[in-house]
Amino acid sequence: MATVAITALSKLYDGGGELAVKDLSLTVADGEFMVLLGPSGCGKSSVLRMIAGLEPITSGTVAIDGKVVNEVPAKDRDIAMVFQSYALYPHMDVFNNLAFGLRRRGIAASEIERRVQGAAAKLGLLPFLKRKPHALSGGQRQRVALGRAIVREPKVFLFDEPLSNLDAALRVSTRNELIRQQRELGITAIYVTHDQIEAMTMGHRICIMSKGEVVQIGKPLEVYRNPANTFVARFLGNPPMNLIPVTIQGDARSHQLRFGGTSLAARCWPAERLSRLDGKALLGIRPEDVYEASPRSGDERLVAITGASVVAVEPLGAETLVVLSLPGVSEEVIVRSGRESKLRPGEHATIQLDLGAAHLFDQATTEVIARIDVKREAGWPRTA
Ligand SMILES: Nc1ncnc2c1ncn2[C@@H]1O[C@H](COP(=O)(O)OP(=O)(O)OP(=O)(O)O)[C@@H](O)[C@H]1O
Ligand SMILES: [Mg+2]
Repeated sequence: MATVAITALSKLYDGGGELAVKDLSLTVADGEFMVLLGPSGCGKSSVLRMIAGLEPITSGTVAIDGKVVNEVPAKDRDIAMVFQSYALYPHMDVFNNLAFGLRRRGIAASEIERRVQGAAAKLGLLPFLKRKPHALSGGQRQRVALGRAIVREPKVFLFDEPLSNLDAALRVSTRNELIRQQRELGITAIYVTHDQIEAMTMGHRICIMSKGEVVQIGKPLEVYRNPANTFVARFLGNPPMNLIPVTIQGDARSHQLRFGGTSLAARCWPAERLSRLDGKALLGIRPEDVYEASPRSGDERLVAITGASVVAVEPLGAETLVVLSLPGVSEEVIVRSGRESKLRPGEHATIQLDLGAAHLFDQATTEVIARIDVKREAGWPRTA
């Protein structure tokens, strides 16, 4: 297996315009599963294709195991790529689909047999070796496409949205299968998706991209809990983080965040930093950190807000989403509630914000404002 080091990678397609990839640097450790996550057109596939050697690099370097491969042709890079469309050969059975690439490389028949049987066994494809692709389910076909990459025994696996053609149930099972295979085989993988659930569940780390650039790299929960800016805050999480415009008032020592009729002590953020904000910021709070009723009374992190009106109640089975309008606040606030909510559209409600889990963003730069650990200072109980 191998490491992949990308340094200051950029891509300008013929015809000019904007850089599709801008000065992107990323290191993937041996055996790591790295996810590239971002909206359509942000440059994910371009990065992958440059790593694979399918697209010329405009500037920067790609190194595999410490060796720069910019000038190495795709076929000699020892990389396997699995795409969204599995492009199996329709006239060949599964065995021959798996063996085809190996034969072309002149690998001995006995070795081909060993590798194909091995991969088929790992992927649960042994019963289907004699079947043609048209007689397989979507998930089975995707496993053949994966098997075709595995039999090559490459140093690095690249995946470009390999599950997006599958229906919801199959996506989940194939996703789990892929995670298991990756962890078991210890392969180094770079996986492109715009699906945040895939990113959260599959990646050891996630690299979030926007407009050709890296926005944040980190472990899934780290990035989810500590988004670097409003883009990440809104992109990760469904429904996304609530962002409430607030005004900031105060002096060098203490500040208040105000929205609608509410005023909160801004003790979680450094006063000196708040003074530089021009009196405005965005208060970010995830739907699961807003409560319809107090779950822990007496907890001073919880701030009650009265006079919210219920706009909509969306029961999803396992949970209920409640959309609220707060007095004097233009943005609606979404609350992730229990299986059943007592609230009904048109009613008024009191909600609680967990300030222990809130974020504050600079409205001008969209960057997060680092919290100070007031929990300890104020003797607040630590949560697990
Ligand atoms: N061959 C090409 N020629 C010119 N522009 C291209 C080419 N391929 C991609 N682009 C442009 O480069 C940008 C990045 O495209 P890319 O395919 O890398 O995005 P992506 O993140 O993979 O998007 P998606 O999620 O839709 O697959 C887009 O603006 C796209 O239009
Ligand atoms: Mg793409």
